[in-house]
Amino acid sequence: MQGGSMSTRTLGLIGSAAGGLENIRPSLIEPAIARGWQVAVTLTPTAGTWLQDSGELQRIEDVTGLPCRVSPRMPTENSPHPPIDCYLVCPASSNTVAKLALGLADNQALTSVCEAIGGQVVPVVVFPRINAAHVRQPAWNSHIDALCSVGVHLLIGEDIWPLHEPRSAPGKDLPWSKILDAVDAIVPGQGPSTPS
Ligand SMILES: Cc1cc2nc3c(=O)[nH]c(=O)nc-3n(C[C@H](O)[C@H](O)[C@H](O)COP(=O)(O)O)c2cc1C
Repeated sequence: MQGGSMSTRTLGLIGSAAGGLENIRPSLIEPAIARGWQVAVTLTPTAGTWLQDSGELQRIEDVTGLPCRVSPRMPTENSPHPPIDCYLVCPASSNTVAKLALGLADNQALTSVCEAIGGQVVPVVVFPRINAAHVRQPAWNSHIDALCSVGVHLLIGEDIWPLHEPRSAPGKDLPWSKILDAVDAIVPGQGPSTPS
């Protein structure tokens, strides 16, 4: 089934330029569609260049049935994506996390999520794909506190993403199932119907 045409929930997946981005189609998008989500993907400009270069951008469009957003729309254009039920920022680079915390919306991905954070209607889940050095950056804790204080669901901690030193964990896989479980818990789908 392309793009979850029978879906009742739409996941706004935001990908930034961090490890794991190369695997979002097989590891996140296709499993989300199998769980009943329609998936609308928006990429930061750098993430867009990475997936364009590898050919994944086209494959993502094929599997979701929706255009992958990288650039902002023209003022005369309508949004190419349907209304979103939940945003998932995954992988979130330390740069994208910092910008979200500060409300910097200088690309389409940040624009969508910043508006959702302030709007307080559509839930936002963020998986920071970061290392120990990112966390030691002096502004990191204040960014996390700012996002938590407005209800952003941050998937952080030893049980979900143990920190490693830079360049010490090449190829470390993201906890894809735990990430999707978190999103499913926040916006549950229609479970199997029970006979009356
Ligand atoms: C190969 C490569 C892998 C990277 N992996 C990460 C990563 O896992 N986490 C991270 O925070 N930054 C990572 N970076 C750095 C980000 O790509 C960089 O900060 C970029 O400006 C993020 O842009 P964006 O947040 O707009 O996507 C990586 C860079 C390269 C070249």
